Amino acid sequence: MLKILTVVGARPQFVKAAAVSKAIADRNAQASSPLLREEIIHTGQHYDDNMSAIFFSQLGLPAPAANLSLGGGSHGEMTGRMLIALEKELVSRRPDWVLIYGDTNSTLAGALAAVKLGMPVAHVEAGLRSFNRAMPEEINRILADRISRLLFCPTRIAVQHLAAEGMSAGVFHVGDVMYDAAKTFGAIADRDSDILSRLALKPGKYFLATVHRQENTDDPARLEAILSALSELEGAVVLPLHPRTRKTVESSSLKKLLLNIITVDPVPFLDMIALEKHAKVILTDSGGVQKEAYFHGVPCVTLRDETEWTETVDAGWNVLAGADREKIICAAANAKTGSLIEDYGAGDAAGKIIDLLLQA
Ligand code: UD1
Repeated sequence: MLKILTVVGARPQFVKAAAVSKAIADRNAQASSPLLREEIIHTGQHYDDNMSAIFFSQLGLPAPAANLSLGGGSHGEMTGRMLIALEKELVSRRPDWVLIYGDTNSTLAGALAAVKLGMPVAHVEAGLRSFNRAMPEEINRILADRISRLLFCPTRIAVQHLAAEGMSAGVFHVGDVMYDAAKTFGAIADRDSDILSRLALKPGKYFLATVHRQENTDDPARLEAILSALSELEGAVVLPLHPRTRKTVESSSLKKLLLNIITVDPVPFLDMIALEKHAKVILTDSGGVQKEAYFHGVPCVTLRDETEWTETVDAGWNVLAGADREKIICAAANAKTGSLIEDYGAGDAAGKIIDLLLQA
């Protein structure tokens, strides 16, 4: 039996890991005896219940074998503490593969801990590039890709990025596990979430916004431009506030810009999907939310100067507006739907990943 150790820590990783865990359970159920065993290690990077525990319960993600409770601190400190703790876990658990997701500090720590013990690493969501090395995520993904043995790419462009950096062995275009999750949980959200009625929102009549990226939250001028644009959009604006953003805004003069905005705490996954599905336009600096907008057929305005998900822009779903107040207002007023993006697959990316791991 193949033993897989999955390292997760931050909100978007719970979603991606849920798609793969489900594929593992499905594959085991089809076989006469289980083919794979998965253990999940949660670094604790995200620790608030509504950023972590509720995701595990709503996504049906198996409970972590260990929660290392290592959230908080500077990037280097957090990553270093994770590296120390993850090494101990890997030594005692001896997995055949270490599975890492995306581009967070937990991703890099998981990859580094594994390779230093000679354990093979498989990276889900490999090959993404923003070409902005000021982003902590860009450094995390470049380094994680470089030391992974299997690289599972969501798009063909991601495969090309890896080829340009000299990586082609072990590289596979499998599609996007977030699309798998969107398909599975989209219908459940419609059934189970009552967030629209709780917030008195009419489907198709409100804007949904998220802002948490360090380049926006830690730069008062950018944050002011973004919040000022949001407060001037014609229609209701819902803004689930990431703890980082809340801290910055509430301790500054920017607080008054929230008066016209419906701010709520970070929302559970099913509520977020319901909000996304029925929004008129989504404005975000998140990577995952840009794609979820497309998955649910909603136009997106990205509050960054570049995106890793360039196909959403090329297909007409997404406009890059940066932190430019006028551009954001104009893009939100004129946002449109676009054409089909085939690269993300048919909701079967996680199954392909399992097949490749079993063959490796
Ligand atoms: C991290 C990822 C980012 C991802 C995001 C998803 C890195 C470098 N960044 O950013 O790529 O898009 O997760 O949300 O790994 N905090 C809380 N409660 C929590 C979690 C965080 O209060 O549950 C606080 C932390 O103490 C910190 C701030 O929020 O002050 C930022 O959290 P952190 O995990 O460092 O990064 P994110 O901004 O969430």
